[in-house]
Amino acid sequence: MLLLLPFLWASQAASAAVLAPSPNAANPACDANCMEAFEAALATERAMWATPNFADDPFYTTPTNFTGAKPGDLLRWQDLTAEQLATNWTKIPGGMSLSRFLYVTEDVDRQPLPASAFVLLPLAPPKDGDKYNTLAWTHGTAGRARQCAPSNNQQLYYEWLGPFFHAAQGYAVVAPDYAGQGTEIRAGFHYEAGYMHAADVAYSLVAARKVIGHLLSKEWVVAGHSEGGMTAWRTNERLAMPDQKELLKAGKFLGAVAGSPALPHPRSIELANGGPLGAPVSVYLLQNMVQIYPELKLEEILTERALGLLRLLDQGCLDTGVALFANMTAAETYKSTAWLTSPQFADWQTRYNGAGPHALAAPMLVVQGIADSLTYAANCEWDFNQTCAAFPESSVEMYLVPELGHGPGFQAGQPYFSAWIARLFEGKNPDSGCKKVTAKPVNFRYQHGRTG
Ligand SMILES: *[C@@H]1O[C@H](CO)[C@@H](O)[C@H](O)[C@H]1NC(C)=O
Ligand SMILES: *[C@@H]1O[C@H](CO)[C@@H](O)[C@H](O)[C@H]1NC(C)=O
Ligand SMILES: *[C@@H]1O[C@H](CO)[C@@H](O)[C@H](O)[C@H]1NC(C)=O
Ligand SMILES: *[C@@H]1O[C@H](CO)[C@@H](O)[C@H](O)[C@H]1NC(C)=O
Repeated sequence: MLLLLPFLWASQAASAAVLAPSPNAANPACDANCMEAFEAALATERAMWATPNFADDPFYTTPTNFTGAKPGDLLRWQDLTAEQLATNWTKIPGGMSLSRFLYVTEDVDRQPLPASAFVLLPLAPPKDGDKYNTLAWTHGTAGRARQCAPSNNQQLYYEWLGPFFHAAQGYAVVAPDYAGQGTEIRAGFHYEAGYMHAADVAYSLVAARKVIGHLLSKEWVVAGHSEGGMTAWRTNERLAMPDQKELLKAGKFLGAVAGSPALPHPRSIELANGGPLGAPVSVYLLQNMVQIYPELKLEEILTERALGLLRLLDQGCLDTGVALFANMTAAETYKSTAWLTSPQFADWQTRYNGAGPHALAAPMLVVQGIADSLTYAANCEWDFNQTCAAFPESSVEMYLVPELGHGPGFQAGQPYFSAWIARLFEGKNPDSGCKKVTAKPVNFRYQHGRTG
């Protein structure tokens, strides 16, 4: 498996949605099997989009008052009605309410960008005079196209793995889509750009406070999985860097839960060991990198088959991408993997991903399945070791879950990390220093090796 992440292209209800006749006929890169898998995945995904034809939803269009606006400004706010939830966001658990909003974030050069996010609130109001504890949820790979924004997904990517779980526990969940998923930005969505996603997180809170500040605790934590696990980690690092005054207006940052973090790690290609890469995640990254570094050319990097599949890839989101790419090895996908050792990749890692190690602003809990074949435990431990060696005064814990893969390893850690988060809100900080804990299961009869 090459670098990074995805997860849970799980259990979405099959749909009878009829696809419009598509420009997809006679693609030599995609035989009949492949077309069948593609169309089935796309239909299932489309049925999960809150607005199935994304172009019909004016919400994500950048408003004119974006001009001149500053990071943290609010651009648009929409409380979804009970009727809209009943028709367009049918998977939201009972009693929860949803708002979505557009706001201003910034790119790596601190130029303003429009971004979208959602807020999920529990039924019960905060205790008298009190506020909800505030949790920023950072989503894992959803795809690359604009319509893949979690706020446009009936399950809000990734349902009980994140937003539903935390709102059910009484948190106000604020969740950025990340700039370019949902909104339209130059160069398109910057997949895996952790340094930028960290700004999206902080500014989503700054903007949300302008409307529902009376409901949100000043204190906040960030928790996420996969691409979002990496983002939670990067957020914790970025908030400790110099010149982050505007981001720090997000509130009092208490800590981060980094689940199965998709830290970009060229070593993953070796770990895939010639086998299928499992998902198109490195292709999503490459599609963005050629926008940032025009001297890199897709035609020189991807095989003919992979290039042919690109015509189909961004019609859908991750599940569609998996249907198209999952059975391809590195050699079937890439003419050359030299881009992974290129100066452009090194530049991207530093400036866009924000690869560390860097000091941390607050405690961090890393949750990782030992049998993860998408973001390998060995890679995660390597980064954990780097942080511990460079910043031994940090408070970092790594919680390892035996026999489980990318999604289930994180999910199985929920009781452990939700207790960890609750203690932060009680003002009880974990000790400084690094520690590693391996979960001791009550038995080993659970399904081993599960990845999704
Ligand atoms: C998997 O790869 C083979 C070629 O090796 C192809 O014929 C087949 O259609 C692929 N399956 C899917 C679902 O794309
Ligand atoms: C909700 O679903 C309807 C029917 O598919 C669609 O026309 C509409 O654009 C959707 N979005 C919103 C935000 O109502
Ligand atoms: C942009 O307009 C919206 C809707 O009127 C408003 O809520 C928001 O505060 C405005 N933002 C800026 C930065 O002017
Ligand atoms: C991390 O550090 C521990 C303790 O020093 C060591 O045993 C382990 O091999 C290291 N892991 C990696 C992946 O570097």
